[in-house]
Amino acid sequence: MRSHYCGELNAKLIGQKVTLAGWAHRRRDHGGVIFIDLRDREGLAQVVCDPDRAESFKLAEGVRNEFVLRVTGMVRARPAGTVNANLRSGEVEVLAHEVEILNPSLTPPFQLDDENISETVRLEHRILDLRRDVMQKNLRMRHATAKAARSFLDGHGFIDIETPVLYKSTPEGAREFLVPSRINDGQFYALPQSPQLFKQMLMIAGFDRYYQIVKCFRDEDLRADRQPEFTQIDIETSFLGEQAIRTLMEALARHLFKEVLGVSLPDPFPVMAYEDAMRDYGVDKPDMRIPLKLTEITDLAKDIEFKVFSGPANAAGGRVAALCVPGGATISRKEIDDYTEYLRGLGAKGLAWIKVNEIAKGAEGLQSPIVKFFPLPVLHELLSRTKAKDGDLIFFGADKAEACNAHLGSLRQKVGHDRGLAEKGWRPLWVVDFPMFEYDEESKEWKARHHPFTSPKDGHEAFIETDQAKAYAKAYDLVLNGWEVAGGSVRIHRQEVQQQVFRALKISPEDQQAKFGFLLQALQYGAPPHGGIAFGFDRLVTLMAGAEAIRDVIAFPKTQRGQDLVTGAPSPVTERQLRELHIRLRKSE
Ligand code: AMO
Ligand code: AMP
Repeated sequence: MRSHYCGELNAKLIGQKVTLAGWAHRRRDHGGVIFIDLRDREGLAQVVCDPDRAESFKLAEGVRNEFVLRVTGMVRARPAGTVNANLRSGEVEVLAHEVEILNPSLTPPFQLDDENISETVRLEHRILDLRRDVMQKNLRMRHATAKAARSFLDGHGFIDIETPVLYKSTPEGAREFLVPSRINDGQFYALPQSPQLFKQMLMIAGFDRYYQIVKCFRDEDLRADRQPEFTQIDIETSFLGEQAIRTLMEALARHLFKEVLGVSLPDPFPVMAYEDAMRDYGVDKPDMRIPLKLTEITDLAKDIEFKVFSGPANAAGGRVAALCVPGGATISRKEIDDYTEYLRGLGAKGLAWIKVNEIAKGAEGLQSPIVKFFPLPVLHELLSRTKAKDGDLIFFGADKAEACNAHLGSLRQKVGHDRGLAEKGWRPLWVVDFPMFEYDEESKEWKARHHPFTSPKDGHEAFIETDQAKAYAKAYDLVLNGWEVAGGSVRIHRQEVQQQVFRALKISPEDQQAKFGFLLQALQYGAPPHGGIAFGFDRLVTLMAGAEAIRDVIAFPKTQRGQDLVTGAPSPVTERQLRELHIRLRKSE
């Protein structure tokens, strides 16, 4: 049907006859001559139809946007002054000899090169949206990244093994999607949140190195970086320790960036302990492009006459911290109010601040609603710890440590970007030494921070059932520019340790058998030491493509409400289908 791709035409082809096939991107009628920008997967080519060829000209007059055309013609140089440097084929055009309309199109609901189309419209008309250049590029980058991952992993002895999608309901963290079984009345499959236990069983089965680019399913509230079904590059290896696994996995990340973007990531990646990340950045996935750190001032706030600060400072688990913004004295009152509102939205009670106008003038040189509460020596210590200079602004958070961290951590991110403080480029970071457990205030129970199959640090087995707060895990997250792009751990490979963890999580022996009996059994048949990681593939590609939401690198994503606007899923089913699945609809009263 065609001899060349539109986007591939170039000056070397001048004088040659070509046949192109694609979509009419734009048609311009220049009184006498008609120009059609013909588009295919490689880009645009300018087609010129002149009235000398009456039949083709007549057809060209009827062409509208997104009609599918086949054009045969002669490549010629564009007249001087009309060369389009932004176009790969911009030096040439095709003088049409023959135009064929292969299929007309309805008028598209939006102009393909309009940048301001609402996302709902884009998702409803996804096939048209996907025709847009940026979406074509994103999905090709996704393909290139998958290909590079496969090539790296294959080169390092990892083999691709598929695991079931109809799985067993096993609590792993997020809520599961359930699938009723027709042939087993009242029983359900669950869609896997990840192939975690399958990959561990493959290690016990002796495959040594496994990977899979695999769909995972989690029924969670959706955000820009979350989808109910998403893709992981899921990896597991035997007989490697924590450090060796991280070394190999960062080599994979470097390979992907080199292959796909031509970018060299640092070697090695910096490593930061979880506690340090929380102390200095308030979050466990700090964006290292932003050169701001929190300053600890809990001790300074203990004795001051300002309850907002001294309260949390003296309470168990409270924290008072400061965030000094260089040059921040130019932040207006209105902007401070906006930041305060932003933090209130996240649950903060307020946002105290001090503008550092002129340190030499002492308290006089500081502008703030709260500076009156600080004795002079405390002020001095505060300025010295935050390294504040004239012209800076210091923000404060005072609350339970988790809340204080969450608020100032978000503020750091926001102010950093608003003020253009973020460096350019890529800043990967390993965050390591996570606590094994976290206390859930609601249920008053300890929960696994990563997943319950994560190995304790050497020597921490003793804390699992006695002092959960002290137990740390061989778990690691890979953070890139403030996004958690991968998470993994060394696993528990001894049955008794696994049972200790289940007991700490208050899973009864009966439940252990019912839910994880298969794992506990497998662990007794010579399970090798093993561990691994999973990259959030959509997140990784989103970052690489410079997109904003993972929806932009997924061909057919779900909306915030979990709907697929193209097919209309989810949708009602017939009563007969439900009956077959042994599901009785509750009669409405
Ligand atoms: P985890 O739950 O940390 O670990 O997931 C691994 C990575 O997957 C990405 N991710 C998501 N991406 C899009 N939408 C979601 N809803 C979503 N949830 C997670 C993140 C995350 O870092 N089995 C373990 C891995 C292991 O221990 O090897 C697991 O699934 O980028
Ligand atoms: P108030 O005494 O309540 O008027 O608060 C004085 C200043 O402290 C205001 O700027 C408040 O926004 C701020 N503030 C109140 N609660 C907190 C808090 N928990 N952390 C940080 N600043 C706060």
